[in-house]
Amino acid sequence: MIINARFLSSASHISNSVPAYGFEAVFLGRSNVGKSSLINALCKQKNLAKSSSTPGKTRLINFFEVCAKQEEIKQNFIFIDLPGFGYAKVSKSLREEWDKSLDEFLKLRISIKLFLHLIDARHTELELDKQIDEYLQSLLKPEQQIIKVFTKSDKLNKAEMARLKNKYPNSILISNLKKEGLDALEKLIISNLWTFS
Ligand code: GTP
Ligand code: MG
Repeated sequence: MIINARFLSSASHISNSVPAYGFEAVFLGRSNVGKSSLINALCKQKNLAKSSSTPGKTRLINFFEVCAKQEEIKQNFIFIDLPGFGYAKVSKSLREEWDKSLDEFLKLRISIKLFLHLIDARHTELELDKQIDEYLQSLLKPEQQIIKVFTKSDKLNKAEMARLKNKYPNSILISNLKKEGLDALEKLIISNLWTFS
């Protein structure tokens, strides 16, 4: 289980990022999908990652050092919170520069072992998410994995939840609000962490 977490630093680019750890999990997806809230929920801290109802709250690459414990053995690893894809309320030139540095970061930061692609459970077939999925598939290296995480499950009824699970059996359905699915996701992250070390 995750026993501790702390903010390390922010970066605008891979070149000013913290030194690579052996295991890193990155949270990515559309703006406002719940990336920062999920980091807070998994780490059981309210304001570790900055969350807001205004899209575009996260503007830099944010690094968190997380400590997990299993059978009395502790291991540190990294959670990375990214700005949302598709956030348009910045100038075009800034947007392009930003996209370029995120693209470089995701391609070159090979210490990332898990890409957690967050998708709003109510809108699962958005063009933007298809693009993100294709993009991630295209950069994936043998030691890396993509996990689809459907967020805001509290907005679905039981039948809708069952349909989603059926369609994407390897995905995880979570609600930060109702604290559902968080244990399953935590277990998955930690079992991957232990596999790599
Ligand atoms: P950016 O940093 O802008 O890319 O957004 P983000 O993906 O980090 O989203 P953030 O965690 O800031 O959450 C966005 C909004 O969604 C906030 O108003 C949260 O309270 C809300 N939210 C997050 N998780 C859940 C959830 O599980 N259920 C519901 N109903 N709302 C949620
Ligand atoms: Mg955020």
